[in-house]
Amino acid sequence: MEFPVVTANPAQLETACIVVPVIEGDLTGAAARLDDASEKLISQLIERGDFKPELGNTLLVPFAPGLGAQRLLLAGFGSEEKLDESRYKRGLDAAMTALLKLPIEDAAFAGLELNLELREADWMARMIAESALRTAYRFTEMKSKPGEPVSLTRLSVVSADKQRQAELEAGLRVGAAIGMGVNEARTLGNLPGNICTPRYLGERAEQLGAASDGALKVTVLGEEELEELGALSLLSVGRGSEEPSRLIVMEYRGAEDENEAPHVLVGKGITFDTGGISLKPGAGMDEMKYDMGGAASVFGTMRTVLELKPKLNVVAIVASAENMPDGRATKPGDIIKTLKGLTVEVLNTDAEGRLVLCDALTYAERFEPASVVDIATLTGACVIALGNHATGLISNDDDLALDLLDAGEEAWDRAWHMPLWDEYQTQLDSNFADIANIGGREAGMITAGCFLSRFADTFPWAHLDIAGTAWMSGKQKGASGRPVGLLTQYLLDREAELSAPQEETV
Ligand code: BES
Ligand code: MN
Ligand code: ZN
Repeated sequence: MEFPVVTANPAQLETACIVVPVIEGDLTGAAARLDDASEKLISQLIERGDFKPELGNTLLVPFAPGLGAQRLLLAGFGSEEKLDESRYKRGLDAAMTALLKLPIEDAAFAGLELNLELREADWMARMIAESALRTAYRFTEMKSKPGEPVSLTRLSVVSADKQRQAELEAGLRVGAAIGMGVNEARTLGNLPGNICTPRYLGERAEQLGAASDGALKVTVLGEEELEELGALSLLSVGRGSEEPSRLIVMEYRGAEDENEAPHVLVGKGITFDTGGISLKPGAGMDEMKYDMGGAASVFGTMRTVLELKPKLNVVAIVASAENMPDGRATKPGDIIKTLKGLTVEVLNTDAEGRLVLCDALTYAERFEPASVVDIATLTGACVIALGNHATGLISNDDDLALDLLDAGEEAWDRAWHMPLWDEYQTQLDSNFADIANIGGREAGMITAGCFLSRFADTFPWAHLDIAGTAWMSGKQKGASGRPVGLLTQYLLDREAELSAPQEETV
């Protein structure tokens, strides 16, 4: 989908459909101009009670006399005082849902004047592109009859101010790239475990590399190479599976200096998590196909990076295995040796994410990274603590934690900081090995972070637990594509830092 900026009077703009946000109270901005040009059509619809501009309400007016547009789509955004980022996003999604049902190829959105405290028009525009792409997403790969795809190919964004053209275009470009990355992550997440295996992820990385015109260098390590390397912790997780494990590395070097220290993203890629010998209960187990959500977000972010080509070095590492019970599977009580050399007593084979991630973190050391961020559907405890709204954040570096929190606010893909205090570390003590892989029921998200921190002592590191945010359950079951927005913003902020003149610190 294209997102051009047009400076025009929305009343005269020729398009198949003009979308206009309407807030409660007096009509303002584009809505007022469309109202004036159409013999008060909008105010009359509101007065008669045919349209209530509550948040999420939409009304399609199929003929719009006096307007250049063939159709008018009213989108309620509720009260202007209450409008915040979440409500703005919800209003946009509702507008896009209504818009994308129409059999049209071209539409325009006129509503950048909405008043959102602290947010500029370029941010509003960015969210429009992201929302359009997210809403247009259909997962039809597995249907025998895929159904009609969305017909819209162009959504113009109407600006009243020619001066802001470049800013708006920049916002739309970022929003569209994030939308694309989010959808890439959703597709990988939604694919079932019998298709999306560690091998499949490896092939997907190779395809991404082959299509990148040399921008992405891809290396896929198989089981023999991992054995030779000593990544025995990663391998211990896939022991019970017929599907071979993989460590996938994607290197993007966009910085002026190709030796500039890279930012490393590490994704948990458990393509199905049965729990292994510590088998999970049956109810809802299908959702454990989403246990590669961290890996999916890393793929999605690399897709966005290839689209935006930031002047920055980024390395993506995906640790992928299938966690199955079997005669050869790792058992509770087994002791394994990690790539770092530390030994781990596996008290619960369902705490497998940390076992693949620890070796990937050790592998990351070889890149002498500026920062390492791992992303993982790691603990049910995170879902209990934060629900489906916030991603859990743990870090050994407060500056890095703040950078990630800020990126989450900017992309509106938010995280919440949890403590990594020494007091929690003793929960991992083992009588038989260097550490245990579980720390008991209490503070389960934090002790998982503590486990990972043992393998992240040589670089600034953060961990994002996306167990609650990577997918939706119930009727709207599906991958969310989070936290591609946060990660992309984090990288764009690092790029801006690199290219900005170094500030004096006092
Ligand atoms: N993939 C799960 C975490 C998970 C559970 C994510 C439910 C989303 C929803 C992870 O591998 C796991 O099983 N964790 C265990 C750890 C426990 C055994 C210490 C958990 O959270 O129960
Ligand atoms: Mn598990
Ligand atoms: Zn898992």
